[in-house]
Amino acid sequence: MDITTTLKIPASLKSGCVVVGLYSSGKLASSGLALDKDCSGALSAIIKQGDITGKVGQALMLHSPTGVAVDRILLVGVGDPDSCSESQYRKIIHATMSELRKSAARNAVNTLTEINVDDRDQAWKCHQISLIGIDSGYVFDAPGKNSKGKNAADDKNESKLKKMQLLVTKSEQKEATRGSRAGSAVANGCAMARDLGNLPPNICTPDYLATLAKKMGRRAEKLKVSVLGEKQMEKLGMNALLSVSRGSRQQARLIVMEYKGAAATQKPVVLLGKGITFDTGGISIKPSASMDEMKFDMCGAASVFGVVESILELQPKQNITCVVAAAENMPDGDASRPGDVVSTMSSQTVEILNTDAEGRLVLCDALTYIERFKPAAVVDIATLTGACIVALGHVGSAMMSNDDELAEDLLQASRISGDKTWQLPLWEEYHSQLDSNFADLANIGGMPAGSITAGVFLSKFAEKYPWAHLDIAGVAWNSGKAKGATGRPVPLLMNYILGR
Ligand code: BES
Ligand code: MN
Ligand code: ZN
Repeated sequence: MDITTTLKIPASLKSGCVVVGLYSSGKLASSGLALDKDCSGALSAIIKQGDITGKVGQALMLHSPTGVAVDRILLVGVGDPDSCSESQYRKIIHATMSELRKSAARNAVNTLTEINVDDRDQAWKCHQISLIGIDSGYVFDAPGKNSKGKNAADDKNESKLKKMQLLVTKSEQKEATRGSRAGSAVANGCAMARDLGNLPPNICTPDYLATLAKKMGRRAEKLKVSVLGEKQMEKLGMNALLSVSRGSRQQARLIVMEYKGAAATQKPVVLLGKGITFDTGGISIKPSASMDEMKFDMCGAASVFGVVESILELQPKQNITCVVAAAENMPDGDASRPGDVVSTMSSQTVEILNTDAEGRLVLCDALTYIERFKPAAVVDIATLTGACIVALGHVGSAMMSNDDELAEDLLQASRISGDKTWQLPLWEEYHSQLDSNFADLANIGGMPAGSITAGVFLSKFAEKYPWAHLDIAGVAWNSGKAKGATGRPVPLLMNYILGR
């Protein structure tokens, strides 16, 4: 969908739909008042009838209003005239989009930009409308769904909405346009992350991801892509990473995408994604119920690809190095055993007590590998622990960090984007849970504080730079009827990058 800004809505405006706000006081927001006049009080008459009260998230579509040139007017409840929180605003935009996409409108003018949001400016509102506006139209073109000879998109009745204009004032227009473009780019990044997450694991293998990265590198001049195979990783001593892919027919890949948007002297931000394209647990095999969802165990990697997609669109003047540690965790005669001891690239040794704690094994060697980029900061993103879902449910990601400034930057990005994140501690007292009788570290720390001990494990390999870890186990995908990847935390990561 194409989204632009516009300066006014005359009564003669021809559009599929104009979206206007209605406060819970029963008063229309200013564009609504003007429209009401043009259609001789038709809006206020409908409001009086009581079908819509102005509560946040309500929506009422009015067809063929008289006296104005537009085909439809969408009334949307925007709540309290004196206060609208960010989450209320997002709820309002979600309700708007769901109504617009149910209708046959091909284009729309959105005046919800006139609703004041507590502590947020027009650029923020336009960012949110564009992000939610595009993301709400996401349809996964499932490669396995064309069996009846028709296009998957037909099945899901893809919406007709192709264009949306956001009403802004002249003095806001420049910043609003910037916000809207950023929001669109983030939505496009989310779409890529969702597509990759949703692909079946027999298609989305480590090599599939490596091939995709190379393709993106060929398309974009500023993106340099290199891929390490298992032989090269062996030479580097990345035996923890390789211990995970031992049991799989699929070869592990370390994918490096260097976006060069600034002088070579500027230290890059490095993003590192866990790319377990399927996690059976290995010899410590998982129960079979819902095991299919472990195709989503590469959603950290998918979010890193999503960020690359977004930054190629926005071309920020920064250096950003995106790394994916890709492998498949399978049981096999040659798979790693519980009790195996491996030496990592950092030369610390690890006792693998549970082959299902494989994410930290691929990430630890990648964390050592990326020292060579002399990072300004490193953020790893991983569907790392089920314990994270116990702690934060499906609402927020867990964040852990060895650097207060980086942690604060990420929390700030989380607040602005609404892509919720909460910090957990890495206190010294947890560290002994990883003691091993047979190696420098065990790869599991027992039941208590499972997300934290996973973070502590990673922290032992991230001592050379400011580092943060995002555990996205609870937020990267939805289960049940709406099963599918969410694209999170692309909004958080992009806000972090654009805020630098
Ligand atoms: N990929 C899983 C974590 C996970 C499980 C994410 C369920 C989302 C939903 C990870 O590799 C894993 O298996 N972790 C283990 C660690 C344990 C063995 C210490 C877990 O959380 O059970
Ligand atoms: Mn696992
Ligand atoms: Zn896993």
